[in-house]
Amino acid sequence: MQITRTPAEVRDALRGAGRPVGLVPTMGALHAGHLALVAQARAECRTVVASLFVNPLQFGPGEDFDRYPRAFESDVAALEAGGVDVVYAPDVGTMYPPGFATSVDPGDVGERYEGSLRPGHFRGVATVCVKLFATAGCDRAYFGAKDAQQAAVIQRVIEDLNLPVELIVVPTVREPDGLALSSRNVYLDVEQRAAAPALHRALDAVMRAVTHGETDRDRAVAAGRAELTVPLHEAYLDVVDPQTFVSPERLDAPVLAIASAWLGPTRLIDNVPIEAPAHAPHEIVR
Ligand code: PAF
Repeated sequence: MQITRTPAEVRDALRGAGRPVGLVPTMGALHAGHLALVAQARAECRTVVASLFVNPLQFGPGEDFDRYPRAFESDVAALEAGGVDVVYAPDVGTMYPPGFATSVDPGDVGERYEGSLRPGHFRGVATVCVKLFATAGCDRAYFGAKDAQQAAVIQRVIEDLNLPVELIVVPTVREPDGLALSSRNVYLDVEQRAAAPALHRALDAVMRAVTHGETDRDRAVAAGRAELTVPLHEAYLDVVDPQTFVSPERLDAPVLAIASAWLGPTRLIDNVPIEAPAHAPHEIVR
């Protein structure tokens, strides 16, 4: 496995590499969710590149950029064990040299939910991902389903900019109690960690309501809201179109239940896909 630090080094390392080239973009502090992306990329691609870069452009003022967990040595060991061919780990000055001015604005899908809580976040994500795609010249890019709005943003960008990259979304990896793995779970204290699975239970409750025939969005959301009790504080809970993140009034197509809640200073996100609801209103679960 080669560790590269600049776009030129990545290109040298990938000259003549077998295709498809799969990219796993990460901010490090790797957990089993990231390693599931690596494993799928390894199974599907002849060459696998993983990036390790905590991207300042996607953090707002007062967010956790400075204290975001960093674990370079153990990340490199995990990527090597996962069969990655090339690691790209630039520093901030290499990614954004003096004079850097271009950004990618993904538009409406990036303004809702996470985008409204974190203004500029998805511009930062889209900008760094386009740079990573271009640097790696990848054919496929692997993203986790937990960050569903991020995946929708990247799909929008790929289509709008005609990027020759296929987005692969890999299912969320969960703890046995349902909590989605996240690098930010390390911020939770014992009490918060014990309460955290309620976020997934809330989404499951929304999913059950819809699959039992509830087509009214407000009633479906209310079914989930009952689970979001103190110490959780809801940031949002909704049912949306998985591509646009617009919330339909009537839930009669495949949709995505999305949720975010604060536990102390930490905000967790999660989502559950809901296939086409059964049309059996007499079975509505409230
Ligand atoms: O999901 C992440 O870890 C980041 O948003 C990404 C895609 C690596 C871009 O910095």
